[in-house]
Amino acid sequence: MLKKTSVAFLTVLAPLCAAVVYDATFDALPLSTKHDYVIVGGGVAGSVVANRLTENSNVSVLLLEAGPFHKGVIETEVPFYFWLGIPSTYQWNYTTVPQSSANNRSISYPRGHILGGSSAINGLVYDRAATSDFDKLANMSGDSGWAWESMLTYYEKLETFGPPSDGHNITGQFDPSVHGFSGPLGVSLPGYSQTLDSLVLETLNNDTFPYNQDSNSGNEIGFGWQVSTIHNGTRTTAATAYLADNYLARPNLDVVVNAFVTRVLASNGSQIDTVEFHAVGNTTNLEVQASQEVIMSAGSINTPYILLSSGIGDNATLSSMNITPIHHLPSVGQNMSDTTVMYVSWEVNSNDTFDPLLNNETARAEAFSEWNATRTGRMANGVINLSGMLRMNDSDPTVQSIYQQYSESVAGSNDADFEMLFIDGYISTSNSTYFSMLYGVLSPLSRGSITLNASDPLGPPLIDPNYFASEYDVLVMRQALLTGFNFLSSEPWTSYLGTPVNGLAEVISAVGTGDFTAMDELMRNGVQNGAHLVATSSMSPYGADWGVVDPDLRVKGLNGLRVVDASVYPFVPGGATQLPTYCLAERASDIIKGSQ
Ligand SMILES: Cc1cc2nc3c(=O)[nH]c(=O)nc-3n(C[C@H](O)[C@H](O)[C@H](O)COP(=O)(O)OP(=O)(O)OC[C@H]3O[C@@H](n4cnc5c(N)ncnc54)[C@H](O)[C@@H]3O)c2cc1C
Ligand SMILES: *[C@@H]1O[C@H](CO)[C@@H](O)[C@H](O)[C@H]1NC(C)=O
Ligand SMILES: *[C@@H]1O[C@H](CO)[C@@H](O)[C@H](O)[C@H]1NC(C)=O
Ligand SMILES: *[C@@H]1O[C@H](CO)[C@@H](O)[C@H](O)[C@H]1NC(C)=O
Ligand SMILES: *[C@@H]1O[C@H](CO)[C@@H](O)[C@H](O)[C@H]1NC(C)=O
Ligand SMILES: *[C@@H]1O[C@H](CO)[C@@H](O)[C@H](O)[C@H]1NC(C)=O
Ligand SMILES: *[C@@H]1O[C@H](CO)[C@@H](O)[C@H](O)[C@H]1NC(C)=O
Ligand SMILES: *[C@@H]1O[C@H](CO)[C@@H](O)[C@H](O)[C@H]1NC(C)=O
Ligand SMILES: *[C@@H]1O[C@H](CO)[C@@H](O)[C@H](O)[C@H]1NC(C)=O
Ligand SMILES: *[C@@H]1O[C@H](CO)[C@@H](O)[C@H](O)[C@H]1NC(C)=O
Ligand SMILES: *[C@@H]1O[C@H](CO)[C@@H](O)[C@H](O)[C@H]1NC(C)=O
Ligand SMILES: *[C@@H]1O[C@H](CO)[C@@H](O)[C@H](O)[C@H]1NC(C)=O
Ligand SMILES: *[C@@H]1O[C@H](CO)[C@@H](O)[C@H](O)[C@H]1NC(C)=O
Repeated sequence: MLKKTSVAFLTVLAPLCAAVVYDATFDALPLSTKHDYVIVGGGVAGSVVANRLTENSNVSVLLLEAGPFHKGVIETEVPFYFWLGIPSTYQWNYTTVPQSSANNRSISYPRGHILGGSSAINGLVYDRAATSDFDKLANMSGDSGWAWESMLTYYEKLETFGPPSDGHNITGQFDPSVHGFSGPLGVSLPGYSQTLDSLVLETLNNDTFPYNQDSNSGNEIGFGWQVSTIHNGTRTTAATAYLADNYLARPNLDVVVNAFVTRVLASNGSQIDTVEFHAVGNTTNLEVQASQEVIMSAGSINTPYILLSSGIGDNATLSSMNITPIHHLPSVGQNMSDTTVMYVSWEVNSNDTFDPLLNNETARAEAFSEWNATRTGRMANGVINLSGMLRMNDSDPTVQSIYQQYSESVAGSNDADFEMLFIDGYISTSNSTYFSMLYGVLSPLSRGSITLNASDPLGPPLIDPNYFASEYDVLVMRQALLTGFNFLSSEPWTSYLGTPVNGLAEVISAVGTGDFTAMDELMRNGVQNGAHLVATSSMSPYGADWGVVDPDLRVKGLNGLRVVDASVYPFVPGGATQLPTYCLAERASDIIKGSQ
């Protein structure tokens, strides 16, 4: 067992805690001792696995994270910083390749670069996906352990469903029977009441726009209160939850930050047992060894990127880039899928929106000091209070023909085709006040890729989500927008909404005459990064001739290497991906423990 010796970092960042985190840029690192497991990436999945494996004091784990330590980074603590902007220091500054079905736009593609990973910078939205998503995964993989019934126990295990920051009575706003109250991750319902909320609730009915008391019960269809990864008015991340001081204090867990992993290596045959990395800002290569397994948790972009850099991918392509192939696995980096999202906005006849917090320094300072003193107010709140997840209206002949043509995309009866998120403002510096709707296609058919850049294989990867490459995604987004216009077509909205923003007025009047040209153009110019990319290290059945990992998440054809992160989902689990990733990592930890 390794003894911790490093103290420098302790005194700098966490003077009062007994836990030790090594900083690769200046600490002497624990590299001479073999750890049982080396985990690459301290994001959502990596943090969960590091925690669960070290519950057994006989098992040693080394976690390598490229970003800095998370403590004291206020922008990752105050939920409202999602709208104010989290500094790029804590992000991978990625951009997509020009999107040929989105007017050749290159779209900014942020990812978290800090302990806690993307959970430290994400939209805090808590979605579990539907029973049919997991049942489909179980069918596709041939492992019934991925079915909803089994995954629900992990969802309940991982969370503490806590009170909202304003302490209001949440009876009827969720279903306690499907939630957990003693897990590491604190989550809660909205903690700040907005004028907007009552408008949404007034519009609901039992027919087209039903209320769903808990969209995380397995049936996600309908409108309801949005759960967020917030506890006591503060963002919770994989690091605050799974790498809290009491866990970092475990003598069998070593965490190294500012450690940039470049490759995994096999020092003997096909047994991957070595991880190559360097300290940020220092190109000297260092190596560390795992006596059991190397676990890739670098996320859906960097996991396939590191595998390809290591020679695990398509032989011919790698050879053409002068990378020595060590294992022919053509699916690495392929099949990439992401939710397709866009915003539309209106000015509103109200002053009660979050816009003043963006454009009025006094209002912002007041809100911050309220957060700072009591963890309440708009800054303590999540990014949305209410959301809707819907299927297309199948009494409409247009929709019937879409369903006929693309039946493969429909996961099941309780899985939504699209989502509508109600946003109480607009990201702009103008002095007006706004309402925005975020639309998302949740079961998209477009597939893209993560590849090495042939002209610079050591440089950043090429990221191609290929938004709107499938006409299906265009057709579903149209239905989403039309449903939204319908939702907003009567009182109280007609009094509340003012001028539509960015050409939206023209779109609305054109669809009235059956002309979708302007709408399609708005979509191609408006599609944003969906942030939910998956499938770049896809799971497939044992023996399948496609895919990257088996249902137990071991890389096909290699020993000692597993992938545990969002990249193994073969399709987007209908909704946002952080909770499915926490849950996947919880089950993966049990699978790994079971194979010890
Ligand atoms: C801007 C944004 C908004 C989002 N909004 C939401 C939301 O509202 N709700 C939701 O459910 N999901 C959301 N997501 C998605 C969600 O955060 C991800 O699905 C989830 O974090 C995936 O977990 P992961 O473990 O696969 O990867 P990550 O959490 O991204 O973790 C990967 C970790 O690996 C580290 N790493 C990468 N490369 C290396 C390397 N070479 N060496 C060492 N370490 C490395 C990274 O720094 C990072 O810490 C959002 C994501 C983003 C970026
Ligand atoms: C750890 O190892 C010791 C010695 O082999 C053994 O007695 C003990 O049961 C193990 N503990 C666990 C939690 O596996
Ligand atoms: C992203 O850009 C910022 C600002 O230039 C920088 O500090 C940060 O290190 C960059 N992130 C990565 C992963 O290189
Ligand atoms: C996108 O780029 C391609 C290749 O450069 C070009 O052929 C195409 O016309 C461009 N499309 C648009 C909409 O600009
Ligand atoms: C919350 O509301 C429910 C239903 O209205 C009520 O039964 C319950 O007593 C309330 N709880 C508290 C703590 O006030
Ligand atoms: C749906 O119907 C029930 C029973 O009639 C009623 O109590 C409820 O308020 C209705 N919900 C909506 C959103 O209209
Ligand atoms: C919530 O945060 C406040 C302000 O930091 C703190 O005083 C309080 O103890 C916290 N409450 C809980 C339950 O953690
Ligand atoms: C770079 O890292 C190597 C290996 O740890 C170390 O010997 C060297 O001093 C470092 N260089 C600098 C400038 O920190
Ligand atoms: C891929 O390359 C490796 C290493 O050069 C070689 O051993 C293997 O046979 C190749 N596999 C295929 C399918 O080409
Ligand atoms: C918003 O505030 C401005 C300035 O305080 C005021 O003139 C205006 O009437 C307000 N508008 C609404 C809709 O309340
Ligand atoms: C800015 O916010 C402050 C505090 O809420 C408010 O008193 C002031 O009127 C606002 N300024 C403008 C220009 O709206
Ligand atoms: C936030 O609160 C802390 C004490 O909890 C105080 O030291 C600090 O000055 C406050 N910051 C601001 C900007 O109000
Ligand atoms: C918003 O209002 C402030 C104060 O009146 C003014 O200084 C600023 O220029 C305005 N910003 C815009 C974008 O109109």
